Amino acid sequence: MQPFMSQKILAISGSLRAGSSNHAILRFLSTMAPESVSFNIYNNLVQIPPFDPGIDHELPPEAVVELRNLIKDPDGIIICTPEYAYGVPGQLKNALDWTVSTGSLVDKPLGLITASTGGENAHTALLLILGVLSANVLKDATMLISFIRSKMDGEENITDEKTRESLIAGFNALLNVL
Ligand SMILES: Cc1cc2nc3c(=O)[nH]c(=O)nc-3n(C[C@H](O)[C@H](O)[C@H](O)COP(=O)(O)O)c2cc1C
Repeated sequence: MQPFMSQKILAISGSLRAGSSNHAILRFLSTMAPESVSFNIYNNLVQIPPFDPGIDHELPPEAVVELRNLIKDPDGIIICTPEYAYGVPGQLKNALDWTVSTGSLVDKPLGLITASTGGENAHTALLLILGVLSANVLKDATMLISFIRSKMDGEENITDEKTRESLIAGFNALLNVL
């Protein structure tokens, strides 16, 4: 029998790559979720079309409507992303642009994990972006994990104990406010 789900989390990875370390982090966190928490990893980022303010209100694309609903529904959000070319991955930024007009992220408790080779620039930029979207970014659930690939084995397991501990602590900080 399905246990009663009292809290819902939506997790979004900024990487579209098969074998992504950011996906692996989200899968790791999903295994840490208590039974009462529904942990949904968003898998449709690739389908979000380029942001067009001209069709934002009248005729938003289906994938955008789905994303907006998925963001509005849960109690908390986790964004876990790499950095590309010193910036936020384009497809993640594009998806966030679609949430501006609907205010889907306003006051939403959110943990930000930037897991990359370096990642400082994307992390800083995302904090600004999430600030303008009025998300409730939780400091204790937010972290930069540099050299992520060296903290994992070839089978997508996080092998660095300190990283595992930080991820669990951040996840618990998010769960505590839901
Ligand atoms: C085109 C490209 C550009 C990249 N640029 C950066 C960068 O500016 N900063 C950084 O920290 N890592 C950069 N990386 C490395 C990624 O952070 C690294 O591949 C990371 O593991 C990707 O995340 P994923 O494993 O979840 O796909 C870049 C990788 C690619 C493919």
